Amino acid sequence: MKAITLKLMNRNISLPRLNSVIILVALFLTISCREKKTEKSSDTVDQRVDSVLALMTLEEKIGQLTLYTSDYDVTGPSIRENYKDDIKAGRVGAIFNAFGASYTRKLQEIAVKETRLGIPLIFGYDVIHGHRTIFPISLGEAASWDLKAIEQSARIAAEEASAEGLHWTFAPMCDIARDPRWGRISEGSGEDTYLGSMIAVARVKGFQGEGIGKLNSVMACVKHFAAYGAAQAGRDYHTVDISDRTLREIYLPPYKAAIDAGAATVMTSFNELDGIPATGSKYLMTDILRKEWGFTGFVVTDYTSIMEMIPHGIAEDTASAAALAIEAGVDMDMQAGFYNDALLNLVKQGKVKEDLIQAAVRRILRKKFELGLFDDPYRYCNEEREKSTVMKPDFLNAARDVSRKSIVLLKNETNVLPLNKNLKRVAVIGPLAEARNELIGSWSAAGDWKKSVTLLEGIRAAAPSSMQVVYEKGCNINDDSTRNFSKAVQVARQADVVIVAVGEAASMTGEASSRASLNLPGVQQKLIEEIQKTGKPVVVVLMNGRPLTIPWLDKNVSAILETWFLGTQSGHAIADVLFGAYNPSGKLPVTFPKSIGQVPLYYGMKNTGRPMDPNNKYTSKYLDETNDPLYPFGYGLSYTTFSYGDITLSKNRISTSGELVVTCAVTNTGKVSGEEVVQLYLRDRVGSVTRPVKELKGFQKISLEPGETKQIEFKLTNADLSFYRRDMSFGSEPGMFDVFVGGNSRDTKTISFELTN
Ligand code: BGC
Repeated sequence: MKAITLKLMNRNISLPRLNSVIILVALFLTISCREKKTEKSSDTVDQRVDSVLALMTLEEKIGQLTLYTSDYDVTGPSIRENYKDDIKAGRVGAIFNAFGASYTRKLQEIAVKETRLGIPLIFGYDVIHGHRTIFPISLGEAASWDLKAIEQSARIAAEEASAEGLHWTFAPMCDIARDPRWGRISEGSGEDTYLGSMIAVARVKGFQGEGIGKLNSVMACVKHFAAYGAAQAGRDYHTVDISDRTLREIYLPPYKAAIDAGAATVMTSFNELDGIPATGSKYLMTDILRKEWGFTGFVVTDYTSIMEMIPHGIAEDTASAAALAIEAGVDMDMQAGFYNDALLNLVKQGKVKEDLIQAAVRRILRKKFELGLFDDPYRYCNEEREKSTVMKPDFLNAARDVSRKSIVLLKNETNVLPLNKNLKRVAVIGPLAEARNELIGSWSAAGDWKKSVTLLEGIRAAAPSSMQVVYEKGCNINDDSTRNFSKAVQVARQADVVIVAVGEAASMTGEASSRASLNLPGVQQKLIEEIQKTGKPVVVVLMNGRPLTIPWLDKNVSAILETWFLGTQSGHAIADVLFGAYNPSGKLPVTFPKSIGQVPLYYGMKNTGRPMDPNNKYTSKYLDETNDPLYPFGYGLSYTTFSYGDITLSKNRISTSGELVVTCAVTNTGKVSGEEVVQLYLRDRVGSVTRPVKELKGFQKISLEPGETKQIEFKLTNADLSFYRRDMSFGSEPGMFDVFVGGNSRDTKTISFELTN
């Protein structure tokens, strides 16, 4: 057959003459659209996508549906080492774990110059809490309850990532997590649906900035769809078996909020749901995501999760697993290589409709056009920009600010904090005081732990010159050696105040890091017990990625600061709080249980038919533990105090079309200015299905000078009162509601109103 030669993306391609007329039309459209760059209507993009699709063989289309890792990989050894050959062979549409302007340019060149059609690659990466400048782990950042700060942190991550050739982040993780044994609780926003939804939106806005295709934006990826956080017994990858009502009411809203905010992509989850692995679930990927929610972006699997449908026991081989996934509505195969291996034959054998593949490629190509990659595949590979962007001073300052906002003051007896500047000698003890490598936490992207500021460094930098700062490690994070206890006790004895930094290693949370105990690992508590015996005031600085069971600390030490893993600026941020340069304002995004036997423990529980009564054995409780948490959801102290006035309502009765204004006066009753997170909860007293005892429906982070009072207003509408009713329709039901306002989910003022039809 005679061939003609055409040029696409500066590549000479040979095409059979028969198709040349169609192709010429298609190319004309591509090129003419390229010239009309300002026309950004989706029609135009679709026409351009069509023009490329018309050129593609089925093999090339299937290749676009594949995402392979570069040869570096944080989650374990990579399956494919020869990914460069795959790029050349057109067997890959996107690459992850490769970053850097020049490195991504090299890989892009292979795709553009050495494949028949020169279709550019998308580069993705787990930019979870910062890229080079590392911000607090997501759970920690959620403790700031500061949506602007959270958005800004994602914005900076996107600025850095996009300057390093990346187009796509695998974030935000929107999984509600109510079981702190699950190590991935650290990657999300905690236990609450409302807070989680607001944060999901902030993160999407931050990552995607002014829109996909802007040079400083990256595509967000809402993960892990769906309900991954409900893993039984908190064991990672474990079975999820929840009702459709719980799924829709508790777990789905944050994903949906992120999608409504414009998130470009979605990642499936590893878990099964009601017997069907998410990656093979048409209910999730097509019925809910696309049909109910109108999602138009593309869906990628989680790492090898198509392959995992075999051990799940729902597919017997590569072909059946690939068929399940594509039929469910999954567009891109991360790392399993099953689409590449099986889809061609499945189509040839008539077992999978080519239309499904066509639809999936279309969704992926659309994003490549929106990213501007067909106009210039190297537009994100600018080394100059990379140099001037990563870790610039403004970003470090922002990280310090977000970090200190994320710190939660759990206890401050006799106001030992902020530290008195006249102290002569401060002892800094504990395995995390100098553990530079732990501070950036899990999923720390391209963050360099060597650039982190340790607690000891932060304290030394902030301490007045008259204050002596002495350090002793005392013990390791997680072994049983008490050998160095005596040195630590010695140092403590000579100090006026002892700061002890304890907690978890960064690797104890994150993926595949579930724990069956929530205690401080190793001998850390024993070390504190020994130090406590010196009688010196002890300030515990916790670094960890999940709630810990620390009743002994709560009872015995003078002060406790929950600092999570704060990232690059850890030491400075903590020192700002210790010395009072910043008044702590963080509030827990997750309940801290007293003991592991209480887990799962969250504030939004149901009342049960036998609510706890201490005087009645036959009520819902434990024989050997109370039902109360150690620290409730929403809890966190300040260096000042706040008082809440009585709640007033604009009306005592509203109809479904009405609006209710809830007002509460909040006063700073202490001596320093401070920030407070004013929280509003609701309870629907009687419903056609049982309702939680409290549900967060609003919050405001406010700032008050000493003595200042602010009237805080919340507006409630029918949407806030709605839920999945007995027939699964979403709406409200008339009746009495309780409103609660306070500084945490436990200590609240209350009032009630009636909803009428
Ligand atoms: C994790 C995802 C992550 C992916 C790519 C998986 O193991 O579950 O959260 O985005 O790897 O690194």
